[in-house]
Amino acid sequence: TPPVDPHLPAVHLRPPRNWINDPNGLVFHDGHYHVFFQYNPYGPQHANVHWGHFRSPDLVTWEELPVALDPTPGGDDADGCFSGNAVSIGGRLVAFYSANRTGRWWQPITTAESHDGGHTWAKRPELLIPQPPADTTMYRDPYVWQEEDRWRMLVGSALSDGRGAAQLYESTDLDNWQHLGPFAADAPRPLPGGTDTGAGWECPQYAFWPAPDGVGRQGLLIISTWDHDAGPQATAAYSGRETLDGTFHPAAPVRLDHGPDFYAPALLRAPDGRWLLWAWSWEAREPTWVGEAGWAGLLTLPREIALTADGTVHQQPAREVTALRGEQLLYATGPVQTDPVALGEVGSTFDLTARLTPPPGHPGGLRLATSADASEHLDVLVDADAGEVIVDRSHASRDPRAVGGTYRIPYPAARSGAPVELRMVVDRSVVEVFLSTGEALTLRFYPDSDAPWSLQARSVDFTVQAWNLAAPAEPGPG
Ligand code: FRU
Repeated sequence: TPPVDPHLPAVHLRPPRNWINDPNGLVFHDGHYHVFFQYNPYGPQHANVHWGHFRSPDLVTWEELPVALDPTPGGDDADGCFSGNAVSIGGRLVAFYSANRTGRWWQPITTAESHDGGHTWAKRPELLIPQPPADTTMYRDPYVWQEEDRWRMLVGSALSDGRGAAQLYESTDLDNWQHLGPFAADAPRPLPGGTDTGAGWECPQYAFWPAPDGVGRQGLLIISTWDHDAGPQATAAYSGRETLDGTFHPAAPVRLDHGPDFYAPALLRAPDGRWLLWAWSWEAREPTWVGEAGWAGLLTLPREIALTADGTVHQQPAREVTALRGEQLLYATGPVQTDPVALGEVGSTFDLTARLTPPPGHPGGLRLATSADASEHLDVLVDADAGEVIVDRSHASRDPRAVGGTYRIPYPAARSGAPVELRMVVDRSVVEVFLSTGEALTLRFYPDSDAPWSLQARSVDFTVQAWNLAAPAEPGPG
């Protein structure tokens, strides 16, 4: 076996080797959170897609279970058990997924059942939904949820007029499904910043909460946008009101995550009613390097996602993630007198909270230095004039095979001098940044690391606290 790649995350979920993409089948069942995921057990590229399986009693300790679903040779899913979700009903797990055959532009919906907590599965012999609706040019990724007296299903699709859509189905028995048409067909299209919401919608997800005024519900539709030529693009979220007949009326879409490496997020309804979310964070380094490393992709940390009273999406790491904190690495405060101020070493897997107030006229914030001379660094800066938090990875790897770029989280309050409160989790090659406003940004970076990683404060008034993060040992069997 090759040496362990230094960019392999320590606390983010993924198997030690090979390819993963979307989280699938997220469900609480038998006292465990189950996280399935798109997985090629044979190599670091998208092929032979199985459903891998992790579970946890508490979102802190995770164990990897045997592969749950594998393609049946000669079967409808012979070339991949593509994405879908799962429900827990009457002591069993029922998974809904997309059955892939190479060369077919759409994936019919099929199902499998487990009576032993997801260890072994029996596939239903015939397809559940064998044909997509007319006028679609892409079709996959079922998402099933329970309403009072019936089940509902969304399936991702592209319409022949070039718009993405989520197809809505209903069932009373999970076996017979009636197609009702596109869900929220009149949803406004462009994303802020000019990016369209895409020709295809993959992995539609739907969450809901009682409306603050007690009348009906607030809904949240999450989609991943896909382009026929360029493939996966970004993730958008629509929030809006449901009328009492269950019709969803979405307002303008927002980006769910402001980073470049966040896709196919999926929801889990926790027993306490919280909606949790995981996404796929893909590699941002050249495929040759990925091949040498022998693995690709990771799942983001579990997030709690909610809507504020006015319908704004709010994300934070799940509160359980705090239990991964070990020793405190640093606590530092004060205005920067002479630039930069060295705050101390942080290791390559840590959790940080910061309060940052830059002076007007010049972005200021934190630098994570990963080389001895600090020429290799990842910056998180507040631009008060622009009203933005900037995450800059353009100098984050001296290896030219890593992707660079600068990304921005809107924070208009900075224009009037408000401090930025943020949480940042760094895990070797991934960083997830959360503002107290509920905005999030995920990106990948690949330092050469010829020195211990250390933190600097640059032209900013700051309070920073950081803790080492470590995954606890796997629980014993049972
Ligand atoms: C999203 C996606 C899904 C599909 C799966 C295949 O990343 O393309 O639409 O079901 O991945 O692995």
